[in-house]
This record gives sequence, structure tokens and C-alpha cells, in this order.
Amino acid sequence: MSFKRDLIRFPEAINDEDYIIATYYLETPMDLYEAANALAAEQSTGTWKRVGDETDYLRERHGIKVVGIYPVPGEFRQNLPTGVALSEFGMQIRAAVLRLAFPHINFGPKIPNLLTAVAGNLYEMGALTAIRLMDLEFPESFLRNFKGPGFGIKGCRDILNIYDRPIIGAIIKPCVGLPADRLAELAYEGAKGGLDFIKDDELLADTSYNSIKNRVKKVTSLLKRAGEETGEKKMYAFNITDRLDRIKELHDIVVENGGNCVMLNAATAGLEAMRELAEYTRVPIHCHRDFAPMWSRSPYIGINFMALTKLFRLCGADQIHCGAIQGKLYEPDEEVLWNMRACTLDFGGVKDALPVSSGGQWAGKAPVNARKIGHLDFIHLSGAGTYAHPDGPEAGAKSIRQAWDAVVKNIPLEEYAKEKRELARAIEYFGKVIY
Ligand code: 6PG
Repeated sequence: MSFKRDLIRFPEAINDEDYIIATYYLETPMDLYEAANALAAEQSTGTWKRVGDETDYLRERHGIKVVGIYPVPGEFRQNLPTGVALSEFGMQIRAAVLRLAFPHINFGPKIPNLLTAVAGNLYEMGALTAIRLMDLEFPESFLRNFKGPGFGIKGCRDILNIYDRPIIGAIIKPCVGLPADRLAELAYEGAKGGLDFIKDDELLADTSYNSIKNRVKKVTSLLKRAGEETGEKKMYAFNITDRLDRIKELHDIVVENGGNCVMLNAATAGLEAMRELAEYTRVPIHCHRDFAPMWSRSPYIGINFMALTKLFRLCGADQIHCGAIQGKLYEPDEEVLWNMRACTLDFGGVKDALPVSSGGQWAGKAPVNARKIGHLDFIHLSGAGTYAHPDGPEAGAKSIRQAWDAVVKNIPLEEYAKEKRELARAIEYFGKVIY
């Protein structure tokens, strides 16, 4: 099977506004240039043999352009199973970083069609033994079609009136099984202790034993009391992940009963569900990432989570889970930081999103989050770090507030804990402080 190498262009030959640039990592026994051409043809005008109507004009206007092939040296084993007899390409597997320019006239500003183009059939090409979408770069002409986050970092901070530290949050634990009134009590205890933001776990949405309607009423009433007692604003993200035709209805129940934030499990509900909610919502959207790591975790297939973060933001998520700094999730800290950058990098007119550091967090992780993230615009989110504190949720919340007080004042936590019992007990129970 041989392909003309006529889809290869140099980047300057590409009109930036007409193309989305997708960057891939791939491994294949094919000639790298032929593999690049095959991918470009397969994902635009062609297939494995040129057909009569695939004129040069049609290819020029609708064909994907190969704008970068960067071979990666090394020895590579077959990392994906395939039914294709790889021997026909030769036995040496090569690797490369590939940049393809997709004419967005082929699909328009619609997520399902974009994904079909940049991550469709090419994932089933038997001659590829690794294929991973590493990044997506969008021109202003594409971005301007998306509303994006309605609130972003400033909007969330304005609701909470917090500007000089991270937003301190917690997930109600246990994740499922609590009746609404007990869940509301736990939210109240955390809020009394100083939590700014509390959320449903991703596993809890609208259920028979704890409906959104009942939960919103009970939680908003107790958080109002906590706000009055502490003099602080509180935000609660109600998980409205559900069938497509119920999401807006659940949003309305939250907002009409005083709720000030909704949550969507964007990967399971769908990116267009997120986009439609973002174009409708009157409150910030907290975007949970469950299900997405199935696509992002393997180095040999799927999508880099940073690229997915850009899509979550493009579809309107105001707060996005980016992994955990020194936490319990799969990404090394450097990858978490890249995911966080995808929330705030210049994205045309699309607002920024508030990154979330969550997964194995507690008071003692505050210093390393501050050091590695290098700014305070994020949500520091804990589950067990608040709700498993030996003296209860209020003390757990206090310990994390005390930890951030110490970080902002540049005082070692162990020093600060000498006068702060809740922080001392957290260090005693959860382990070593990480700087
Ligand atoms: C969420 C998370 C959460 C998960 C994290 C935080 O709903 O935001 O999925 O439920 O368990 O790991 O919990 P821990 O702080 O207890 O790890």
C-alpha cells in the first residue's frame, strides 16, 4: 500500500484561522511519512485508495494537512493489539509526534463532529500500535462560537468574596447512602468549620433515597445558617448529572430553591450536555472528570488530559478537576500543572476556569499545592481530609483553613499547629506535612 506524500505542508502554508491543529503521539511499523499521509487521508477526504472524485481541489480545501512529523528515537514494542499483519510493513516499530491541520469547515463548531474528525477512525487503524491525541489548538474563528464558562475564576471568587487564598472545599463523605437531612448536617458542620465550597460526590446525583429537590432545600437552609454564623459566603455544588432531558429541569430545581452551583460529570453526561447546560445555567458549573481517565491514562492510546481540559473549558465548565498535587491519582504533579494551565491559558475570548486539586488532599498538603501551583487561583478539595478528621468535619475544615492561613503567612504548619489544635490533630492523624 503506498501513498503519495502530497498532504505534507509546512506550517506557514496553513491559514491559521481555517484550521485546528491536533498533535498526536503515534507508534507504527509503517514509514512515518506514509503513516502521516494515511491518517490525514483517512480523517478527511480519503481512504486507503484514492477515488475519482477526490480531486486536487477537494483535497486542497477539505484535506487535512500534515504540518509536522517529529520522529522519536528508540526501540518500541507493539503496545496495542491488532489484527493487521504488521510484518507487511516491516518489523521495526517507529514512533513520532505528528501535527495535523484539520480544516474546521469539514465539521463546524460542534464537539461530536470535531471529535469524530480528530479522534475518530484513526484510533482503529490496525497499522498504528500506539495513537494518542496530545493537544488541540483552536483558532479564534472556531473559539468564538463557544460561550465557554459563564463565571470562571473571577465569577466564582465574586460569589464567595474570597480573593487572597485558594477556595477551600470538601466532598461530602460517605459518597452515597446518606439521607438528605444527614448530608445537610455534614455540609453545615464543614461550612461552620470554614469550608467555602462543598459538593456532592460524583456518585450521588438525583436518587430515590436522596432527591435533588429534598437535598437542595435542606442543604441551602443549613448553609444559610452557617453563612450567618460565620459571616462568610458558602457555595454547594449539587450534582445534576442525569438523562439529557432532565439536566435543565434539575438545574432549575437547584436554582429555584436557592442553590448557587451545579455539578456535572462531563465525561459521562457528554461534552455537548456540558455545553448546553453552560448556555442555560444561571450559576457556576463544577465539572467532574470521572470516566475521562479511562480515555486519558494510558500513554499508548486515548487523549492527553490537558487536551480534554481544554474541551471541558470550551464547553463551559467553570471549575475543572485537574488531578491532585501529591495526591492519590495517576498523574505526576507536572501533568496536573499542565491540566491546570489548560484552565487559564489564553483561549481567545473564552473565560478561564477554576482548576481543582482533589484526590488524597488534607491540611498537610496545602504547602506543596501552594509551592507547585505557584498561585492561589484553585479549589483545594478534600473528602477524607475534612470528613475523616479525628475530631469531626468542623475540625477537619478548621484544620485546612488553619493550614492555608499558615501558608499565606509563610509559617511552617508544625509551628502554626502549636496554637491550633485542629491542625495539630490533623498532622498527628493524617501524617507528614508536605512542602
Ligand atoms: C469528587 C472526587 C472525590 C474523590 C477524591 C476526593 O467527587 O470530587 O471524586 O469523591 O474521592 O479522591 O476524595 P479524597 O479527598 O477523600 O481523596
